[in-house]
Amino acid sequence: MQHYYFDHNATTPVAPEVLRSLSEAMAEVYGNASSIHHFGQAAKQRLEAARREVSRLIGCDPREIVFTSGGTEADNLAIFGVLRKRPGHVIASAIEHPAVLNACAQLEREGYGVSYVPVGGDGIVDPDDVRRALRNDTALITVMHANNEIGTVQPVAKIAAVAREAGVVFHSDGVQTAGRIPVNVRELGLDLLSVSGHKFGAPKGIGALYVRKGVELQPLLYGGRHERERRAGTENVPGAAAMGLAAGIAGDWNEIAALRDRLEQGVLDRVPSAGVNGDILRRLPNTTNIRFDGIEGEAMVIALDLRGYAVSSGSACSSGAVEPSHVLLAMGLSAEDARSSVRFSLGPANTREQVDGLIGAVVESVSHLRRISTAFVRGAVNV
Ligand SMILES: Cc1ncc(COP(=O)(O)O)c(C=O)c1O
Repeated sequence: MQHYYFDHNATTPVAPEVLRSLSEAMAEVYGNASSIHHFGQAAKQRLEAARREVSRLIGCDPREIVFTSGGTEADNLAIFGVLRKRPGHVIASAIEHPAVLNACAQLEREGYGVSYVPVGGDGIVDPDDVRRALRNDTALITVMHANNEIGTVQPVAKIAAVAREAGVVFHSDGVQTAGRIPVNVRELGLDLLSVSGHKFGAPKGIGALYVRKGVELQPLLYGGRHERERRAGTENVPGAAAMGLAAGIAGDWNEIAALRDRLEQGVLDRVPSAGVNGDILRRLPNTTNIRFDGIEGEAMVIALDLRGYAVSSGSACSSGAVEPSHVLLAMGLSAEDARSSVRFSLGPANTREQVDGLIGAVVESVSHLRRISTAFVRGAVNV
């Protein structure tokens, strides 16, 4: 059976041209970028070219890019890097990715104060809530650019203005936006932005942190003087080169948005008691998160997988129990509604035929699962 991929917010396939360049770089540009011989120089040149490409992607100076192992490390470097240099209070949104939320939880265990600002029913942070959470000792505000589960794009320029006025460093997790929708750190007024290569056609294991000139960071890793002493460790030159190349070949997101809309409308037209979670205008062009009343999201993920479609539910499985998504709960959904939600996230390779096939599979899966659960409630199914 053919399988189709609708889970691009989890990760993306490596773009074919990126794969070619990656294997060429691994085979031929294998020098250590810190070595002074020919091989080291070649690696250094490739690394610096990648730095320029990534800096162009987000509108900064190449010297403001620190390569990391991915989004998680970039988030951790931003948060611990700022706090260890200048201890203080932190403000984060309630819908951050675990890479930020669990870093904040660790800060709390270390005795730092962290305030979590809520979101509205639309999944958007209100900049005035951030302003109200400010304290005299606030050292960092961290609010993601776009949410990975529901796709809502946050008003980061407005939040950056609040931070600037208060003289507080502002970090945004741009893992779901950089390489996908236009991002310009200067226009947005960001001090720090996390980027992850595998969300836009580069391999896993490469990411970057934009660090505005003048923002001081304590490194996370102790070792050599790589990355202007901000991130020790021999650089992943093939990964950086792949991310630089992927940065320049973003897909046609208008087309992806049209397919997402077709999918969403097709599902809403044909499935009763279904609804979209989060703001439908201020969101990533590739994402829709849909609630199917009376159905477990996990069961939908399995039912769709059996029909050849890979999607995701926002819920996490911890110690055998399915936990409802913290993002949907923060928006005010009940645990039951949060558990009945499914995320569809599209990418450049998805086609209209695949979308139409997926709509059919959703219709079949929902009616099958609802039939079973009705029979179950009536006692007609023995388990
Ligand atoms: C919003 C967001 N932040 C951070 C991460 C972590 O990035 P990485 O997988 O590169 O460590 C992800 C990955 O799912 C994400 O969606």
